[in-house]
Amino acid sequence: MRTVAVTGAGSGMGAALSGRLTAAGDRVIGVDVQNAEIQADLGTPAGRAQAIERVGEASGGVIDGLVTCAGLNGLPDRPASLLISVNYFGTVELLAGLRPLLARGTDPAAVAISSNSTTCAPGIDEALVAACLAGDEEAARAQAGDGESVSTYPVTKTALAWWVRRNAVTPEWAGTGITLNAVAPGAVDTPLLQEGLDDPTIGPLIAAFQAPIGRNGRPEEIAALIAYLLGPDARFFCGSVLFCDGGMDAQLRSDDWPSPWKP
Ligand SMILES: NC(=O)c1ccc[n+]([C@@H]2O[C@H](COP(=O)([O-])OP(=O)(O)OC[C@H]3O[C@@H](n4cnc5c(N)ncnc54)[C@H](O)[C@@H]3O)[C@@H](O)[C@H]2O)c1
Repeated sequence: MRTVAVTGAGSGMGAALSGRLTAAGDRVIGVDVQNAEIQADLGTPAGRAQAIERVGEASGGVIDGLVTCAGLNGLPDRPASLLISVNYFGTVELLAGLRPLLARGTDPAAVAISSNSTTCAPGIDEALVAACLAGDEEAARAQAGDGESVSTYPVTKTALAWWVRRNAVTPEWAGTGITLNAVAPGAVDTPLLQEGLDDPTIGPLIAAFQAPIGRNGRPEEIAALIAYLLGPDARFFCGSVLFCDGGMDAQLRSDDWPSPWKP
């Protein structure tokens, strides 16, 4: 029986994944502000420390998988600084803090949830991405400010994808046998997406942004991909960012990736 910690387990993709893993016989330790075994606010350093400590207690100090689903959508009336704390620091600090528990696990694997907004949202503030990656939460929050967070959402997901790619290949991750990868979903029918659709300003824009396959994703489809990345057939994946978005990235950016190396 594997032990897998899942943040954001209380809803959407994290809940779908938790149900799938539990049905397959895994022990899931859910972390969320709601509907989870461990209730913690990953938007604060104290909440993250509490979550890491309690996952340690619940697991006996050993986990075989970690999936970071917790996150907030960007909204016109949600502060940008909050997204910096929840989506970026609330994810990378859990990955770093629980890495020692993974290192003691069997065929350990970590999967972070990024987004196809990393490539499909125009004009990402790369200076703010750099501020996140620099690791100073207060500085990044100040740089983001307390205005709208719609444009900050892709910043947090880009910084996260790059953090995953930078760290996956290091001695601490690949060198200790832990696979670290990211999934980049497109629009998936969850409460997070619905919150955006319900917003009078951005709702119509989201609704107009239709994927080529003609529908949104289902949480179960993303859960299946994550379950694969956690499993024995995915041990060759290292630092990959897997897009699962109904073709939106391929449609908008067909020739931009693979991007030739120009030394
Ligand atoms: N739904 C989409 O269209 C979509 C697309 C791309 C990426 N994503 C990402 O997928 C992940 C899962 O989202 P979802 O769509 O399943 O949304 P969701 O709202 O159904 O689930 C997200 C969970 O995160 C939890 N959470 C939020 N803030 C938290 C905090 N401070 N501390 C602890 N938990 C917190 C929420 O309580 C919720 O249970 C998110 O990171 C999201 O950004 C979603």
